[in-house]
Formats: sequence, C-alpha cells, structure tokens
Amino acid sequence: MIVDSVLTNAKAYLKGQIVDCSIAIEEGKIHKIGKETQMPQADEKTDLHNLLVLPGLIDEHVHLRDEGRAYKEDFASGTAAAAAGGFTTVLDMPNNDPVTMSAERLRNRMQLAQRRLLVNVGFYSEFPKTLPEIKEIVSEGAVGFKLFMGNQTGGVNVDDDLALKEALKAAAEQKVPVAVHAEDRAMLGANEEKLKKAQKTAPADYLRAHTEAVELKAVQRVLKLVEGMGVRLHFCHISTKDGLAAIAEAKKTQTVTCEVTPNHLMLSSEELQRYGSLVIMAPPLRDRLQVDALWRSLEDGSVDTLGSDHAPHTLEEKMASSVWDVKAGIPGLEVTLPLMLTMVRKRRLSLNQVVSLLAEKPAQIYGLTGRGSIEADKTADITIIDYNQQFIIEAVKFKTKAKFSPYNGWEVNGKVAKTIVNGTVVFDDGEIIAKGGVGGIVRGGTK
Ligand code: DOR
Ligand code: ZN
Ligand code: ZN
Repeated sequence: MIVDSVLTNAKAYLKGQIVDCSIAIEEGKIHKIGKETQMPQADEKTDLHNLLVLPGLIDEHVHLRDEGRAYKEDFASGTAAAAAGGFTTVLDMPNNDPVTMSAERLRNRMQLAQRRLLVNVGFYSEFPKTLPEIKEIVSEGAVGFKLFMGNQTGGVNVDDDLALKEALKAAAEQKVPVAVHAEDRAMLGANEEKLKKAQKTAPADYLRAHTEAVELKAVQRVLKLVEGMGVRLHFCHISTKDGLAAIAEAKKTQTVTCEVTPNHLMLSSEELQRYGSLVIMAPPLRDRLQVDALWRSLEDGSVDTLGSDHAPHTLEEKMASSVWDVKAGIPGLEVTLPLMLTMVRKRRLSLNQVVSLLAEKPAQIYGLTGRGSIEADKTADITIIDYNQQFIIEAVKFKTKAKFSPYNGWEVNGKVAKTIVNGTVVFDDGEIIAKGGVGGIVRGGTK
C-alpha cells in the first residue's frame, strides 16, 4: 500500500508521553504510528528533524464574525489565524450579524463558510425564540448553545428564570453542552447606569461596572437553575476566585466544566494603565489576587479548558473616547499557544496540561470523538512545534484582520512550525499554503 504521506523523526505526544516515531497519513486519517522502518511507502515524506508533534489544538471559543461583521474578521482570515496559531478546529460563537439562533441561519452560515475554511469549524447557536427550534438547531449540526447572560443576545429573555430553565432543559434533552457567558445583566446594567450618570468614561470605570460580584451572581444563578436537570454546563472565561469556587462546589454534584482565557492569566487590571481601552474585554482583566487564584485552579486541575476568546475588532472600535463605546475583546488565536508554551518553560504548567486544556478536554466536552489525540484511525489534525524557538510577537504579521495585541513585542518560546488539517499541511513556516475548503464543518454528534 502507498499512503498519502509519512512524517518521520517526530517527537510526538502519544497518550501522555513524548515518543520518537513516524506517522503515516492516508485519506485525512492517521493510518499508522511506529518506527520509520515500519512505515508504508508514501507519496510524500517529510523529515520533521525532531520537532514536537501535538494533537491538533481545539479552540472552543472563537468569534469568527463574517456575514455582517466581515469587516472585523471573515471565515478566511479567522481560520488562517487559527492555522497560524496551531489550531486545527475552532468553535464559532453565535453573536454575529445576524445572530446565529435558528436552523435556517445556521444552515446559511455553514453554507457561506464551507469552501473558505482553512481549519475545521463547529458552530454554536444562541437559544432561539421558541423551544421546538432547539431540536431543529441541533439536528442542523450546532455543537452546542451559547448563553450570554450579560446582555440580551439570543431569543430567550435572560431576565426570565422560567424561560431560561425551559431552554436549558431542552438543551439537556438534546444532550448538547451550553456554554455560558456569566455576567449578571441586571447588576451590570445598574452599575453602568450609575457610572454613566456620573459621566465616568475612563477604561478603569469599565471595571467598576463589570465587577467580580457581577460574575459570581450569574454563575450562582445559572447553577441554581440547572439543579438536577442534567444539562452539560460549560462556563466561559471565568475570571474570579469566587466564580471558580462556586463552580468547584457544583462539580461535586453536576456535570459542570469551565474555561479560562490566556488574557486573564497573562494580564491583570494593572495593564489597563498601560494599554488603556485596547485591553477592554468582558469579563475584564482582574487584579493580581484574582489572577493568582486562576493560576492555582489551573495548576490543581479544576480548570478544564483554555479558550482564546478570539474577539477581533477594528483598532478604531477599540479606541473610542468613551469606554462605553469601546468594543470588548482582543484577538487571541495567534498568541495563545506560544504564551502557554512559554509558561510551560517557566514551569507554571506542564506540557501534558497544555494538551489536556487545548485538545483533549475540549474534544471530550464537545463530543469531537475523532479528534484531540494522536492515535491510529483518528483524523490527521496535527500541530507541529519548534519548542526551542524564541521569537517576538509581532501583531502586524497576524493573519487575523485585528492586527493589534497587548502582547506585541513580547518574547515567547515555542513557535508553530506546521499545522496539518484533515491530513493536509495548511500552515508551513509562517505561510498559509492551502486553499479554503481544506477545513471542514464539524457537526455536533457526527464528527
Ligand atoms: O470581550 C468580549 N468580546 N466579550 C464578549 O462576551 C463578546 C466578545 C465579542 O464578541 O467581541
Ligand atoms: Zn463571553
Ligand atoms: Zn467570547
């Protein structure tokens, strides 16, 4: 048999160990892992010269935009950024224009995306206006629902406990996860109103609105709503000690998981003085005490995943003179892996943890059964890293349309050398070398 390709001299992460091996790829799948002498003949052979080979990384929290917000990011630029950052699968958030919140809109979005994807993409939906649509959306292939609690984004009134409960129950019946943006709309709104009345418009005022209590209140509220329901809740971007503690407690009795972002680990509210509105995000950066608590939870394993919360905007949108007009969020796809590998080198984290947080756990939570590890018969999604290469983050070179970053100029360790998606090399030595369509649409329940 002649296979499509063989990678030789790999140092591959296989079941928790780094193993010297070769990997044969056939029709987009991992055909065989073994010694070079055991490899079948191949159309193409690539000597990796001992580069580190990880399972293709999965970013479960990405805003790819496109459609009405294509000026910030589109499927081509967003998935190019993903490939450049070592991600082979990303999950797209639904707060688009139009909001992804019906089977029809999901279908349209998938159709538009299909031939333009450089990595695999799964789509979240917001909760729709009516309950029966929840089943339709899942049948159409959504990987899960997103619940924004901080503002009214989807079809369910976020202030109405009963309506929320019914929607969550319907999601539980469909066995899909519900990712939650936990900020309490009422508390946040009241804080904002007070500050606006007092004509407070500085970046620091944003923190006075998006307080730690705002996060905790939403976490507690949704945990109470889902009691005994069996829904798979996944908390996005948890940023506070108390939020983490409430989730850790709930984990004893319910299927609850949580994500943190590199931003809330690598930056603190002190950075607001230096970067101003550029680092405005929701939830906001927190003080050192909170950052330390996040690290402790990451180290002790009570954080399940890392999500970049890649949230591209234009620089003008980031620089509005009043903080209330500033768009929240920053691009993250091209910095997440190098930042985390730098922390591995600093011994704050192990490589095993990084693989768990960025590949194994997201695959488990979202049921991406053919992905998340390097094994025979799994999809050939592979991230190849030059672990020892130091480089400087240069935002102007990003593939995302959002070419700015608070990490611009940071020296980091661990550069993505190649990204292989469904068996095809998409990113190689700094360049995108494949055409759109190499990435596929990941549907919930069928991967
Ligand atoms: O910072 C954020 N940006 N937080 C959100 O919840 C939304 C996101 C965005 O879409 O820009
Ligand atoms: Zn969010
Ligand atoms: Zn987000």
